[in-house]
This record gives sequence, C-alpha cells and structure tokens, in this order.
Amino acid sequence: MADMRVNLAGVELKNPITVASGTFGFGREYGQFFDIARLGGISVKGLTPLPRQGNPAPRIAETPLGMLNSVGLQNPGVDAFIAHELPELKKKNIVIIANISGNTPEEYGEMCEKLSAAGVDMIEVNISCPNVKAGGLTYGTKPEMAAEVTQIAKHHATVPVMVKLSPNVTDIAEIARAVEGAGADAISLINTIRGMVIDVNTHRPVLKMNTGGLSGPAILPVAVRMVWEVASAVQVPILGMGGISTGADAAQMLLAGATAVAVGAATFADPMAPVRILAELEDYCTAHGIEKVSDLTGAVQPW
Ligand code: SIN
Repeated sequence: MADMRVNLAGVELKNPITVASGTFGFGREYGQFFDIARLGGISVKGLTPLPRQGNPAPRIAETPLGMLNSVGLQNPGVDAFIAHELPELKKKNIVIIANISGNTPEEYGEMCEKLSAAGVDMIEVNISCPNVKAGGLTYGTKPEMAAEVTQIAKHHATVPVMVKLSPNVTDIAEIARAVEGAGADAISLINTIRGMVIDVNTHRPVLKMNTGGLSGPAILPVAVRMVWEVASAVQVPILGMGGISTGADAAQMLLAGATAVAVGAATFADPMAPVRILAELEDYCTAHGIEKVSDLTGAVQPW
C-alpha cells in the first residue's frame, strides 16, 4: 500500500483526507459512524469570539449536485469550544484544525492566542464566509485586508496558520500571494460560491437570507481550477476542498497542487464518505503504482 502520510506546513497528517469546517461539527456525531482517528485531520466548525445562533431558517437548500447554505457561523464560541469540545477531540489521535472568523483583525488575533495556548495543531483563518455582514468576505476579497488579518493572526499564533480563501473573487492567485506575503504557513481553498435559489411558486428566495454559499460535486471543477492557479502562484502548501466525493476527486485535487484535501458536503449524503474516499484514494495509488501519495501533489501535466 502507498505511504499515505503528508506534511502540511510542518504538521504531519497520517493521510491526506481531512474534513471541512462546518460539515463535521466537532466530530461527536460522526464518531458514531466511524473512528474519526482514521482521518488525517478535522477542521472544526467555524469559531467566533462569542457564541452565535447563526442566521434564521430556512438556511439550507438542495441544488442540482450540491447545496446552498446560509448558516451564518452558528457556534458555541471559542471559550466553550476550548472548555467542552477540545478536550474530547484531544483524546483522539487526529490533527485538530481550529477554523476561526472575526469581525475585526484584532478578534482573529485574540482567538489565535487562545487556541494556540489550548493546544490545537493548526489554525484555519476563515476570511471567506459569504453569510455574515461583518468580517468574512470583507477580508477575503481584498488583498490588503486579507494580508492584514493574516499578519495579525501570525503575530498571535504559535501554531501554523492556514488562510481559507474565497472563490468569489476575480483573481484568487492575487489573494493567495497577499496572504503568503503576510506570513501564511498554508492556504485552504475553496470556500463556497455565492448562489441563490428562488421558489417559483412563492416568488421568494428559498433561503431566508436570500443568498448563500454553494458546495457539493457541482463546484469540483471550479475548485480544482482554483487550486491549480494558486499552486502555480505560491510556495506554501495547499489544503484543497470543494465538491470532493470520490477518491478520484481527491486525486484530482492533489494533482492540481494540493498537499491534502478536505471532504465537505459529501458527508451529509454519506456519513462514511471521508473514510470511503480514503480507501478509494489508497486503491487509486495501488492501481497506479504510486508509492507515496505525496508524489501526486502538483503532478498534473498541463497541455
Ligand atoms: C456559515 O456558517 O455560514 C458557513 C461558513 C463559511 O462558509 O465559511
């Protein structure tokens, strides 16, 4: 079998399959389906300085080959995570990535300090949530603001900082270069693509917030293209995500330039998706005589 270990900005993952923030909670529910220690890592639901109820319902809509969400960062707050969720996660042999969102750059800094001290392995700085008024896309769509948040996060963190980028931009490579220049240790992409669904009977948008973020298999080709563009623009490692639902999808993402991948919406349809995708990726490596999965990273041969 292939050596499945990968190294993401100095953090050793036992395999390249992680689960995407917001699709796996804090691991408790999916722990009933499989041992989450089989995964390379878990990115927990996006944390904010204070608890958030999120946006009003309806905040999920099914779409062809995907789903639209406007959850609005519902979470118990960073302190409750550290007190009640992190100790449980730490009992598992799994890399813990804390995903954070702030209203100001300073809030990102405060959370980086708390989470580093609490012992997470890595921090994922979310500057790409399309469902909140403050923070989120305000930072993720402007290179200078993305750089400012990254700089402050780096200043306060003692663990590697990964910045999660938005696809809702004209030139994602420009944002990637800005966060790399500001000290990001890694980059994750893509977050969801802004979308809208209208109920033709009521003439109302299905989501109470009118718009939301699209995820699922429908966005895979966009994600692969953007990972490839970012990989060509920066030196730091990439955690690739967006529509992965098979081992072949994961292999595409690695070939495009990702060091590891995150499985997201697929887990809603199939709770076993992350471990199934891992097994399929292992089989792919065996079938293609690949000894180290890390050899796939960036191995695409463009025409
Ligand atoms: C949400 O909670 O609205 C989703 C988070 C995100 O897209 O970053």
